[in-house]
Amino acid sequence: NNLDYASYLKNAIRTVPDWPHEGVMFRDITPLLQNPKAFRLLIDVFVHRYMDADISLVAGLDARGFIIGSVLAYELNVGFVPIRKKGKLPFTTIAEGYELEYGNATVEMHTDACRVGDRVVLIDDLVATGGTMMAGYKLLQKLGADVVEAATIIELPELKGGELIRSNGLPLYTVCSFD
Ligand code: PRP
Ligand code: ADE
Repeated sequence: NNLDYASYLKNAIRTVPDWPHEGVMFRDITPLLQNPKAFRLLIDVFVHRYMDADISLVAGLDARGFIIGSVLAYELNVGFVPIRKKGKLPFTTIAEGYELEYGNATVEMHTDACRVGDRVVLIDDLVATGGTMMAGYKLLQKLGADVVEAATIIELPELKGGELIRSNGLPLYTVCSFD
């Protein structure tokens, strides 16, 4: 059941205190990705959630959202769009700035990355303040996509990113959370 896989996956995530600087409890998904059983289970959870949702595109956030988003897109038999950190995409882009738990950043997306009416799942590994997910959401909305849901492995409820995202009308699916 839900609790079983969520706690199994949560247990596969490593916490690194004081990284990248003091006071941050970094939730590291590399042990989960390294464990083939956990990685498969994670992807299966997302695939089962979206397989009947008539999704036409998966958009993933730089960089950890690419790892899970591309596999999800492959499994759903739809295309994948990378939403990248500023300065990485070669073609015409649109940009959106945001604030992080530990700094500022801008993400960009190609102007031909999606079409009006595309039914998109927007995915990342973790929601902290929600700034990254919201920036991706705004980019997809600018191009007229229908963002069906945002999806993430981890939510940090203390930073209220989930509240921000949901209060802006975007449903958010989370596998587990860390207080
Ligand atoms: C992390 C994480 C999310 C974002 C969440 O990425 O992977 O993308 O922070 O924070 P927020 O909810 O406060 O916006 P990071 O910017 O560290 O980049 P990386 O994936 O390239 O390591
Ligand atoms: N991104 C923002 N906050 C984070 C955290 N605590 N762990 C991992 N990635 C993050």
